[in-house]
Amino acid sequence: MATSRKPGSKTAPKKNVSGQSSARNSDSAAAKAPRRGTGDLLAKQAADVEATVAALPFNENKAAEHGRQQATMPPEGTEIIPPSPLVSASTLAESNESAKVGTRADAGANPTVGSLDRVRVDGSGQRLTTNQGVPVADNQNSLKAGLRGPALLKDFILREKITHFDHERIPERIVHARGSAAHGYFESYKKHTKLTRAAPFQEAGKITPVFVRFSTVAGERGSKDTARDVRGFAVKFYTDEGNWDLVGNNMPVFFIQDAMKFPDLVHAVKPEPHHAMPQAASAHDTFWDFVSLMPESTHMLMWLMSDRAIPRSYRMMQGFGVHTFRFVNDQGQSCFVKFHWTPLQGTHALLWDEAVKISGCDPDYHRRDLWEAIEAGAYPEWELGVQVFSEQDAERFSFDILDATKIVPEELVPITPLGRMVLNRNPDNFFAETEQVAFCTAHVIPGIDFTNDPLLAGRIHSYVDTQLSRLGGPNFHEIPINAPIAPVHNNQRDGLHRQAIHRGKVAYEPNSLGGGCPFQAGAAGFVSFPEPVEQDEVRGKPEKFAEHFNQAALFFNSQRPVEQAHIVAAFRFELSKLTVPAIRQRVVSMLRNASEDLAAQVADGLGMTLPEPMPRALPKPPKAEVTSSEALSMFALPGQVGVATRKVAIFVGDGVDGEQVAAAQKALVKAGAVGRLIGPRVGAFSAADGSQIDADASFENEPSVLFDGVILPDGEGTAKAWARDGRAGEFVKDQFRHLKTILALGEAVAFVEGAGVLRDEEDAGLLLHSDPPKGAIASFLEALAKHKHFERETDPPLL
Ligand code: HEM
Repeated sequence: MATSRKPGSKTAPKKNVSGQSSARNSDSAAAKAPRRGTGDLLAKQAADVEATVAALPFNENKAAEHGRQQATMPPEGTEIIPPSPLVSASTLAESNESAKVGTRADAGANPTVGSLDRVRVDGSGQRLTTNQGVPVADNQNSLKAGLRGPALLKDFILREKITHFDHERIPERIVHARGSAAHGYFESYKKHTKLTRAAPFQEAGKITPVFVRFSTVAGERGSKDTARDVRGFAVKFYTDEGNWDLVGNNMPVFFIQDAMKFPDLVHAVKPEPHHAMPQAASAHDTFWDFVSLMPESTHMLMWLMSDRAIPRSYRMMQGFGVHTFRFVNDQGQSCFVKFHWTPLQGTHALLWDEAVKISGCDPDYHRRDLWEAIEAGAYPEWELGVQVFSEQDAERFSFDILDATKIVPEELVPITPLGRMVLNRNPDNFFAETEQVAFCTAHVIPGIDFTNDPLLAGRIHSYVDTQLSRLGGPNFHEIPINAPIAPVHNNQRDGLHRQAIHRGKVAYEPNSLGGGCPFQAGAAGFVSFPEPVEQDEVRGKPEKFAEHFNQAALFFNSQRPVEQAHIVAAFRFELSKLTVPAIRQRVVSMLRNASEDLAAQVADGLGMTLPEPMPRALPKPPKAEVTSSEALSMFALPGQVGVATRKVAIFVGDGVDGEQVAAAQKALVKAGAVGRLIGPRVGAFSAADGSQIDADASFENEPSVLFDGVILPDGEGTAKAWARDGRAGEFVKDQFRHLKTILALGEAVAFVEGAGVLRDEEDAGLLLHSDPPKGAIASFLEALAKHKHFERETDPPLL
């Protein structure tokens, strides 16, 4: 413990007075340091500093800075254990405690990292204060000269409040501005030490906290959730060796091969600069102009035009690291890996018509879905797996593993499961956590390393660079959501909004005044994989990057007919929105190289003649190893959670069969689905048995697109009342058009038929029972578990 020094107290000098007196100056010293044991603190500090510095007569590690051996196995830095904490103190006055300064820092402590508890705020039972902690007497009125007089400039309370408000907004992310996030954990299935020394994978059952942000790319912060777009899937692992960010997407490839083209791509897809339209949409001239001049984007366009781009839920998407990364084990051996997140909830999508309507009635659809599932304890879960392959495997592939427009088909390299991720806690505060979180591909930990993917290289630079302006300076790593739980100690100092208060005068390395600390970790720290590089400095691409269509064809050919039909429809819609027909021509000519069938259908849908195929950059492309892959269809992952969290509307109204309503609600709750009583208005209705039924939603405020299925119970005259409300008919019609499960009982059958639904014996999702059989609700749940009844779909819709 530091000795307490009271202001004005004197410590009687005993011996070596000259040393003690010298220690009282901060600018020079005597030839000899003062002796210890005089009882004088300043003298003791000077003596202890002298002893510490003298313990390092020269820099022992200097020789180890040279040569290849040291480059891959750097030595640990030298640490001198100082005789007392006085050596690293900034000031002896640190022993004076107060409610504000507390005491001195414990050795090696850094409280700016650690759990978020240290910054959580709860105002319950507290009085209102200014930011300076001054209690506010009146939060209703500004200070005026007289009740009807002018407001006064000295009203510091009003000015502080308004000033803070004026600065509430920060720049939004240039891309991925719209997103939602949650906390959770990653659990390793077993030791994966042969593959990697990365901390999360070192033991079976090891838990690593994570924060995950899902996002759209093109739209601004307030844009709709259900835009046709790529979804960001960014995971921050708070490991005990520092933060690792796996900043991926819900599609395993990307539009471009080189970071040099990223600003062009983003400028092309964002709202057009002259009139700032359209918001959150790729269906416009500049996007298709750009991509049709960049044929390497064809593969990604297939994904973007597929149902992957309109997910039913963030919880029902795969995630991919996209680039090839390296795993490195503790022997320094490396393999290539591709990261895959596989959702337990399965991969499911909306229909385009649904997505468009949802964007009007609930632009927060995905945000709400994630929030509600976690609040209800239905924690979303994904399995993390990797495709592992060697340098030699990579050389054999017909494509380049450094090309982010290519996947490694699972038929060539299967996925090895590593562990699972569960999201089990919503953030306390959207801005502090979801908005201020800063993901970065440069955040890797020992055991994970980069490859030479040129898109990845640009990203390693881009994220920190943009966050410097988005978060206002170089200290955003100290914002609580970004701070690691691993200790942080280095000699970086100062900058805007610095939180850490560093003890001592040493902010450099090597040093002896700080006992050599913080010392370099040596081989225990992050050692870059020593990949040999012997090439000319050039701007260019390797030959294999020139093959642009094999995997676009692979993707299209791997889809089920209904998925292919949706891709055709998406191309047709997007291209129909172009104002320049020549761009359409160019896109279709590009598609001919991927699939003649697709190109012909798109051309037909646009009323145009088929253009000549676009000349290929590589006239004789290599033969692809795999031409169809089941794993690429969304049907490959139906999920393991059945109807859990699916939303079901239960129609109610006066005279409804109360028993049927109660039975439906009970069965839905048991299955983990969410039932909602919906009527011509919210509020109480009288059921046929005299009970009261309280509708919590109405046909007006919760239209059909927000539900995965509907149950229409029997009732005396209830269905007649529904028939008088056009919204109820629309509801049923949209349920039918959007391929959802409809159960109608008793009198409700006539209402459903009157709404125009088309009876078909093959339609497993249309359950119409004038005389309800036992088990009708069980059959409904079984049909609901199929999510959609694609057998019902026609293009154009008949209804
Ligand atoms: C050279 C290519 C790329 C560049 C320069 C780039 C740049 C950026 C920038 C500037 C942001 C905003 C970061 C922020 O303000 O916090 C961002 C966000 C993001 N990027 Fe990229 N990006 C590139 C490619 C990609 C690719 C290929 C992926 C997917 C693998 C991706 C995934 C993401 C995600 C998920 C986010 C959102 C992170 C969050 O939730 O905060 N980006 N990117």
